[in-house]
Amino acid sequence: MSAMVPPHSMTVPEFRASKTRGSKLAVITAYDYTSARLSDEAGVDAVLVGDSLGMVVQGQPTSLPVTLDEMIYHTRCVVRGVRRALVVADMPFLTYQVSPRQALRNAGRLIKEAGAHAVKLEGGVRMRAAVKACVDAGIPVMGHVGLTPQAVHLLGGFKVQRNGEQLLADAEALEEAGAFAAVVESVPAEIAKKITSALSIPTIGIGAGAGCDGQVLVFHDMMGLFPDFKPKFVKRYANLDETVKTAVETYCREVREGTFPGAEHSYR
Ligand code: KIV
Repeated sequence: MSAMVPPHSMTVPEFRASKTRGSKLAVITAYDYTSARLSDEAGVDAVLVGDSLGMVVQGQPTSLPVTLDEMIYHTRCVVRGVRRALVVADMPFLTYQVSPRQALRNAGRLIKEAGAHAVKLEGGVRMRAAVKACVDAGIPVMGHVGLTPQAVHLLGGFKVQRNGEQLLADAEALEEAGAFAAVVESVPAEIAKKITSALSIPTIGIGAGAGCDGQVLVFHDMMGLFPDFKPKFVKRYANLDETVKTAVETYCREVREGTFPGAEHSYR
């Protein structure tokens, strides 16, 4: 019998080892088959199915209303589009904060039912036991410190986090608990660099400067497709909003004037 070929070539140990090799990690948040497939084919190291889909896909003001079933649905779509990259699924608000047992059960659903390779959860010191429970059961965990959007009300908004001592303690707690990587969001570049030097696991920055071991951006943000909000850290690699609007305007005009569909789009 031939050995089973793993369905993806980026593994958690390999992702982690990128730090030692000194190769920077490129991660994209995507929510569906098409954007995940394009990102994977273009060579990202990981696709994160982020609960930012609450804002970007659902049009909600925060990620707080996103449910585990919604994350499972989107993760399944992403998994179908990815051949090579690691797929990491976000655990939504109140699916892991209640107890380590709850965290393990719900992380297990993202792995078993949705096909994610790893989960991500927000918080540092206070999430140590939840991270450990998942890792002990064989579920790889990516942590998330700094601006943790699920704590938006506690933090008083989507603000840059500047308490270096606390941020370092949070990141170190994640590493100690067994996380294989940590997202560092909206943190001054010098603090993120210090955290990166202190950890042996890779840091994935978003709004955290160039000193991190990798970067993550949301697909819709970098393509210029999300008009509601553009944080300073977003670089637009394309302006697809203009392209899409022009295409739809042209389509409307052609339908109204009767030039679409043409003979080449019609069956005889
Ligand atoms: O939800 C998300 O997309 C995220 C990334 C921006 C890190 O958590």
